[in-house]
Amino acid sequence: MTAMSIPPLAIPDHRTMLAAMRLASRAPSVHNTQPWRWVFDGTKLHLHADTDRLLTAADPQGRQLIISCGAMLHHVRTAFGARGWHTDTLREPDPLNPGHLAEISFRPWPTPPAGLVARAGVIDLRRTDRLPFEAPRDWNALLPRLRMLVSPHYLDLVTLDEKIRPRLTAASEQATALRRHDMMYQAEIGWWAGHSGDSEGVPREALISDSESARVGVGRTFPSAPHSARRTGLEDHASLVVLSSEGDSVTEWLRTGEALSAVLLECTVAGLATCPLTHITELPTGRNLLTGLVADRGKPQLMIRIGVAPDSGDTAPTPRRPLTDILTLIRE
Ligand SMILES: Cc1cc2nc3c(=O)[nH]c(=O)nc-3n(C[C@H](O)[C@H](O)[C@H](O)COP(=O)(O)O)c2cc1C
Repeated sequence: MTAMSIPPLAIPDHRTMLAAMRLASRAPSVHNTQPWRWVFDGTKLHLHADTDRLLTAADPQGRQLIISCGAMLHHVRTAFGARGWHTDTLREPDPLNPGHLAEISFRPWPTPPAGLVARAGVIDLRRTDRLPFEAPRDWNALLPRLRMLVSPHYLDLVTLDEKIRPRLTAASEQATALRRHDMMYQAEIGWWAGHSGDSEGVPREALISDSESARVGVGRTFPSAPHSARRTGLEDHASLVVLSSEGDSVTEWLRTGEALSAVLLECTVAGLATCPLTHITELPTGRNLLTGLVADRGKPQLMIRIGVAPDSGDTAPTPRRPLTDILTLIRE
């Protein structure tokens, strides 16, 4: 092939790059740490873990950090897909650099699937909602769609029977009790949650009061918000699902994040509210309990509450770091 016949490189233009990355930065992350760095080298987009943002007390292994990066990876692929760019993804492309999590190359994609476009369309609307939910509508119709979205990532989506809820509530309470005198954990969660006006962390407005939290039972205990009684009288009737993987490798954590993102967005498309939960799987006792509850279908990575929020319309988005902090464009 002569130099003349080499086709022009297919890459998104500058505006598309910035718009897609800005949208994708709405991805959820543990404690809103946003532990990712992206580099566009002029041809490919690279995802790196930002280990300075590791939660050393809650997540010493970095499992949730990698899951968070996987969630943004899926958001990025969804945002570019909806703009007509197919993304081919190589996970862990450099064995000598374990923090280099993925490498994305682009191909034009004139007709992305409608489901993907719909998921991209709700990225800005999705919120983590910690208040109690009503039971999800049309759950039996949604469940196969969620399973279909999870299976390309070699994960299982396991539903937990409502009868199991008291045991989960007990496991959640036990997780809180075990952490109560863990000064490192308490300092860390106090640093990341409960402040307003930062570009990271869980702001005070996204937290719930003690009385609201008591009606959820299975939620993580954050620094509590001032007293309020939203969704008065509503006890949590969310469906509870677990994402579990065969093993516990970095690739499986990354794929857990990708599957989590797909599930959260698809639920948002269906008009449902969601809340990822990791405090139970953070501790060996809770993780062992869940392993038994998912009938040994692999390693439980995280739980998700899914349901109807009677009043979801007015929740402010949580903050994000500026794009210049997370994206480097290398110009030739
Ligand atoms: C890996 C991971 C773990 C999370 N764990 C919890 C949790 O245990 N409890 C909780 O309320 N939210 C949890 N979240 C939700 C984050 O706190 C939330 O995504 C972040 O604060 C940003 O807010 P947003 O999702 O509303 O954009 C988790 C999210 C991820 C990706």
